[in-house]
Formats: sequence, structure tokens, C-alpha cells
Amino acid sequence: MPFATPFAAVSVDSSTNASAESCTPVLPVLGRDVTVPLVTGGEVTYAALDHAASAPALQRVWDDVAAYAPYYGSVHRGAGYLSQLSTDLFEQSRRAVAEFLGCREDDEVVFTRATTDSLNLLASALPAGTRVFVFETEHHASLLPWRGHDVTYLDAPRSPEQAVATLEEALHAAPAGPKLVCVTGASNVTGEIWPVRELTAAAHRHGARLVLDAAQLAPHRPVDVSELDVDWVAFSGHKLYAPFGAGVLAGRADWLRAAEPYLAGGGASRTVARREDGGVDVEWHTNAARHEAGSPNVIGAYAIASACGALRAAGFERLVAREEELLARLRAGLAEVPEVTVLSLFGDDADRVGVLSFVVEGWNSSHFAAALSAEHGIGVRDGLFCAHPLLRTLLGAESGAAGECGAPDAAAGAVSLNAIRVSFGVGTPDEHVSRFVSAVRELVRNGAKWSYRTEAGRCVPAPAAAE
Ligand SMILES: Cc1ncc(COP(=O)(O)O)c(C=O)c1O
Repeated sequence: MPFATPFAAVSVDSSTNASAESCTPVLPVLGRDVTVPLVTGGEVTYAALDHAASAPALQRVWDDVAAYAPYYGSVHRGAGYLSQLSTDLFEQSRRAVAEFLGCREDDEVVFTRATTDSLNLLASALPAGTRVFVFETEHHASLLPWRGHDVTYLDAPRSPEQAVATLEEALHAAPAGPKLVCVTGASNVTGEIWPVRELTAAAHRHGARLVLDAAQLAPHRPVDVSELDVDWVAFSGHKLYAPFGAGVLAGRADWLRAAEPYLAGGGASRTVARREDGGVDVEWHTNAARHEAGSPNVIGAYAIASACGALRAAGFERLVAREEELLARLRAGLAEVPEVTVLSLFGDDADRVGVLSFVVEGWNSSHFAAALSAEHGIGVRDGLFCAHPLLRTLLGAESGAAGECGAPDAAAGAVSLNAIRVSFGVGTPDEHVSRFVSAVRELVRNGAKWSYRTEAGRCVPAPAAAE
């Protein structure tokens, strides 16, 4: 029996306070009025341009979580009213996520901690002898969990068509037996969108299954499991404007049901009994609970369901139109700075989300990012973005080259094996993008106004000289 919740019920069609104008952010997020100090004096509104790492919470998510918080109770355990209400909310959230993802009738939706956790869960559930195929371009969360299995690492393709051909060729040459392909939907480095439907079709032609890493795709584009025909999808709440510690693995139930529980413990077990020989017999659950041992993160799950509802209600058509407008402005601005090289695998015409990485001639990327923060109040990311093999390919570096941040104070003008990433989302105002473009221009033309040094591997502003 669904509980009459005194707060907003979970629904993927929940109403939202979305903006109707295309030149303003589509959905309000927290932190839009936060000001930060500048090293050069004064304060400025913080421009959060690192959504690809973690996106700010949607106002709607925050409000929903705050409304539920007084009713918080243990899930699956308590006899009390709030425990039952919380259990109901947790299961409603699961259904809302299934609806958001267009899951098939018999798919499971497992709540995890994030994408990394989801993919490690799936890796632990692969049938014996499974061969895994993964492009070297993946985020480490998609690249590394399979290492106990027979893994084929595929070379970076230079076009979506080449990606499909590379996968076809590798699968064609593979012996019979269970096979899994792991593919990212949108690159966390270049923002480029991968041909998921075509790759899935290729996988299925060769009897392989495919898991989609949608960590970067789901916040920007609709991800429909049935329509894409992928076998599993993984994403993180904190990149989907729901930073409350939960993520999702959704898809085919058979491998998940046949596998040992990801974690052993309460919640995953139906019955436990001592045996006569002194050991214990366990009967495990066969649904999603099998892989959700321990006390479930009901607030995290509810936050994800709330974000799914808000994004759906705002409409991906509007979200994409707005994002493409900002992306065009960003790319046009950077194109006017000849010292800037934007990193790309698939070229200028590739379909992409609001994630872009670049290097600046004559600058160490750590130094550049530190100056953007300290002198302009702009938060971006620098480094190799947990995609070291891809960055080495894009930067033309030796595969053994060190990928540390470098010593920015000593390295003005030196080549550094790192890049700068700018990324945005549904709450980003125009001003953040225009301030970013102006700041890049200003730094390239006139240099940093402050001096910087390396501290614990990070480039930071040097202390002001004593008067
Ligand atoms: C494409 C991609 N996959 C997986 C991950 C891992 O996500 P999480 O850190 O939330 O587990 C990230 C994080 O940046 C990512 O960009």
C-alpha cells in the first residue's frame, strides 16, 4: 500500500520550477549566489564549471530531501510508521528510476554508491570465463573493474564509425563464451557522444552484452535502456544533481541473480541458519536487495528519483537546446584564442555534451586552472581526469610518461601532461560561460596577475609578500 506522503510523492513527472526562457538556466541549482574571495582583492559570484566531476544539487532535489528528512526512518527493518513510509519511498524511488531509464519489465534497478560502485558490482557478477571488451578511452571506473577477467583493451577510435568497426573486429575474432562490452555514453574528457545504439547492435550481433557508463550522458541526454537496447546502465547521483551518496546499476536480472551478493550482510540475506557441522547456511534474496546489503541510502535514492523527475519535467529537448547554445558560445570564444587547443577524438562536428578539455600553449594546465580560480572565481578541473590512457593519446604523450600535475611555479612555458576541463549543466547561467571565455583571453594575453607555487602537488597562489 503506498503511503500518503506528507511531502512530494515520487514521480518522474513531478512538477518543477523550471525557467521558460532559453537564455537563462533551465533548472535552478543550489549555490548560485555563493561568493568567493579573489586573491587580487574583492569577491565574485562563484562560477561552478566542474559539473563533470560533481554537479550542484538541484533546488528541487534539495527541497524534496528537506521535506522528507523529518520523516526519515530505517528501510526494510522497522515496524514503525516512519520505517514503513521510508521503505515505501525507497521502493517508489526504484520504480521512478526504472521509469526514467525506460527499463524493461524484468530489469533490476540496484541502488549503489555511484558509477564506480555499479561497475564493480557488475564485474563481480560476470559468469566465469566472461571476456570483457573496453576502449582505452574509458574513465578508470569503466577501464579497471574487469581486471580479474580476460580483458581486451581496444585502441582509441578517431570517429564513431571507427569505434563500431573496431569493436566488430575484436568481437568477430573472439572465441565463443560470455562476453561483455563496457562503453561510455559521453566522454568525461572531450564530452563527445559515443554511438551507443550502434555499438550495442554490434555487441548483440556477436552474442555479447553491453553495459553503458552513463555517468556523463544521463545528466545531459535522455538515456532509454529499451530504446538503446543496452543490457545495463550505470550512473551517479552526484553528477545528476543529486549529491546524496547514491548511484544506480540497472538492467538484465539474470547475471545479477546468479551471482554471489556484492556485499554479504543483512538486507541481502533472506534466512540464515546454523548447520549441524557448525557453519551457516544462507538463503540470499534474488531481487535487487541481493546486492544492497546493509542499511539502504534512502535519502540518496529519493534524491536521484527527485532529480529524474525534475529533468523529465523540464524536458530534455529544452535542456539540450540550452546546452548546445552555451556550448556553441564556449567553443566560439575559445576558437578566437589561437593558443588554446581543444582536445577531441571525433573532430569538430561530433555531437557532444557540455564538457570540454583543452590545453594552452606556454601554460602548465595546473597553473592556468589555479589562476582561473584565484583571480576570476571560476572552478574548473585540471589533470588527467581519471582517463590517463585517453589523455596520453590526445596529448600525444608516451604511454609511460608521468601524469603528475607538474610543478607549476617552475614550469611556466614547460610542457605538462595535463589539461584543463570546463563543464556545465542545467543551472549554468550565460554569465559563467562569458566570464570563463573572458578570463581565458585575459590570462593568455596578459598572464597571471599573481604568483603561484606547488603545495602538496597542487598549484596554489603564493602568499602575499609582507608590506
Ligand atoms: C564517464 C565516467 N564514468 C565513471 C565515473 C565515475 O563516477 P563516480 O566517481 O561517481 O563513481 C566518472 C566520474 O567522473 C565518469 O566521468
